[in-house]
Amino acid sequence: MKLLLASVLFLLLVNAIAGQKAEAAAQPRVIILATGGTIAGRAASETAVTGYQAGDLNIASLMEKVPELQEVATVTGETVCAIDSKDMTDDIWLRLARRVNEIFAAGEADGIVITHGTDTMEETAWFLNLTVQSDRPVVLTGAMRPATAISADGPMNLLEAVRTAACPDAAGQGVLIVMNGDINAAREAAKTNTLNTDAFRPPSLGLLGYVNDGVPTFYRASTRRHTTRSEFDVARLDALPYVKILYGHAGDDSLFVEAAVKAGVRGIVYAGPGNGSVHRDAEAALAEAAARGIIVVRATRTGSGAVVPEALPTDGPPFLSAGTLSPTKARILLQLALTRTNRPDEIQEMFRTY
Ligand code: SIN
Repeated sequence: MKLLLASVLFLLLVNAIAGQKAEAAAQPRVIILATGGTIAGRAASETAVTGYQAGDLNIASLMEKVPELQEVATVTGETVCAIDSKDMTDDIWLRLARRVNEIFAAGEADGIVITHGTDTMEETAWFLNLTVQSDRPVVLTGAMRPATAISADGPMNLLEAVRTAACPDAAGQGVLIVMNGDINAAREAAKTNTLNTDAFRPPSLGLLGYVNDGVPTFYRASTRRHTTRSEFDVARLDALPYVKILYGHAGDDSLFVEAAVKAGVRGIVYAGPGNGSVHRDAEAALAEAAARGIIVVRATRTGSGAVVPEALPTDGPPFLSAGTLSPTKARILLQLALTRTNRPDEIQEMFRTY
């Protein structure tokens, strides 16, 4: 009788383990690539929300704080870098894009989450939106409060990002930013507040969706080219073209235009007031730069709305217009555009389609 009972218990145990294994095998696989930021920040006290060391905690410690991650997906983590994102570089972008492409090409994950500082998160997301060659979800997330703060927002953001990366509806939506329950397209998202937890907004064109009570829910999709429809390939690039942003203002002049030309830039984004308008005292120098083959793109410093083409009073090569892209995102598209062509008409077409 005892033997029979023991055998039954043994069989039940074997079945339970097999069931768990089957469930784990059926779960989506998500890899978290850590790059640093406030989400991994350690402050001196629980009430400090500034003056902390960004990128101090490793990915294993972040994952330990959210054991629920493993209920959503089979989640593993690796470190790409551990920086304050204000110090982001082209070199890290190139490494990150290659690592994402490598993981998907090898079929190692169904989705990828990138933990990132919020300061330049929208730039990295946009760079990846143009250089990842897969329609599987890539989701960036971070935190406005360090991991050591009371009510740190990082753990919930991480869980919601993993839920989104594991969600089939997120496939084909381009690179996403999930913060504070909002799902933003990389193209539209901007950090719009220095400290608040709802810092990320799409100033011109709206959110893609929300993570509603743990369920990523999409209400619309971007019509612009991205990921699998992008023509940009960074597999063999070891540097990106040098492009600078110049900020237009009352009392502007040609000083920084001349300095940029002297430094050898291949492109200039002029973040002008209103419809990307160029101060008359900077315009001649910009026109001269354009005549030398430097691509000049007008963007707006207003924070929202489209920059539309404007006739120049001078003859000569046109200044291009950035449409609804912010100056920082226009800079990235121009960098990538210059890896393909120097022709202003072809580059303007890219601004119309990405
Ligand atoms: C950073 O961007 O690395 C620091 C700020 C933040 O993550 O909120």
